[in-house]
Amino acid sequence: MGRISRIGVSINTSLLAEFDGLIRKMGYANRSEAFRDLIRDKLVTEEWKGGNAECVGVVSIVYDHHRRDISDRLIELQHEFGESIISSTHIHLDRDNCLEVVIARDGAAVVKEIADRLIGSKGVKHGKLAMTSTGRGLR
Ligand code: NI
Repeated sequence: MGRISRIGVSINTSLLAEFDGLIRKMGYANRSEAFRDLIRDKLVTEEWKGGNAECVGVVSIVYDHHRRDISDRLIELQHEFGESIISSTHIHLDRDNCLEVVIARDGAAVVKEIADRLIGSKGVKHGKLAMTSTGRGLR
């Protein structure tokens, strides 16, 4: 860890009470750690906006494997972006439904495109992209 700076923050009392309630629920040991996470989250979000910054995206999709061609289409898509996709896991949720988790590492714009195309594939019932950072730029 680098040098530590101490800062004073002025904040509305009721807002702070709400914040304290939230971080207690989330299991934070103290406000400082919660503030640091908020700042990091904001910095990561800004990183994606650049489009070129290297990011990691975790894409989860749920689909009915009985739907015609969907498995083939999803595999095709993952081969198309083979250089960016670093991992994928398939879980058979029940007789009909599959969960696929695809992890991609590339510029934010590419990661977003992969997610959009996976989630937008015909037959996908639900999809979600969780964007995160490679961690390199974060302290
Ligand atoms: Ni399956």
